Amino acid sequence: MTATDGPAPTFYEQVGGHETFERLVRRFYEGVAADPVLTPMYPEDDMEGAIWRLTAFLEQYWGGPGTYSEQRGHPRLRMRHNPFHINPDARDRWLGHMRAAVQSLALPPLLEATLWDYLERAAFAMVNTFEETP
Ligand code: HEM
Repeated sequence: MTATDGPAPTFYEQVGGHETFERLVRRFYEGVAADPVLTPMYPEDDMEGAIWRLTAFLEQYWGGPGTYSEQRGHPRLRMRHNPFHINPDARDRWLGHMRAAVQSLALPPLLEATLWDYLERAAFAMVNTFEETP
């Protein structure tokens, strides 16, 4: 350490900042768009808005700019997901598309594992029903 060392880089910076998160989320939504269970849940006429919301949330979570909360308030993710029917099938589909998107980034293994571990835990926490997809 020398006096010229800045603060330790955030995870957001380590993975490549905004460009990386936007690439991740756009790739993820390509998968969602082709998924018959998930697509109907998403706002057809506002996919750019949905891309922005998930990108900004993840950037904020990992130490990037706090724009998500400036515009959307406290995330309250479980509450915001209440209107959607998230059973284990929906969760596994969501995770499948996210897994492909994460892998497409080809991050260093430790960074990839850190990101994936969080996404997997968060997705399990978002399940709000065990009823079959209606
Ligand atoms: C487990 C399966 C999941 C399903 C089926 C699901 C589905 C959805 C849907 C349909 C929306 C509305 C799209 C929009 O208009 O923004 C949404 C929003 C969102 N989701 Fe998920 N989601 C899941 C898991 C997650 C996880 C694990 C995270 C975080 C790591 C997450 C973060 C978000 C965020 C930040 C928003 C926007 C909230 C807002 O500001 O309104 N979701 N999700």
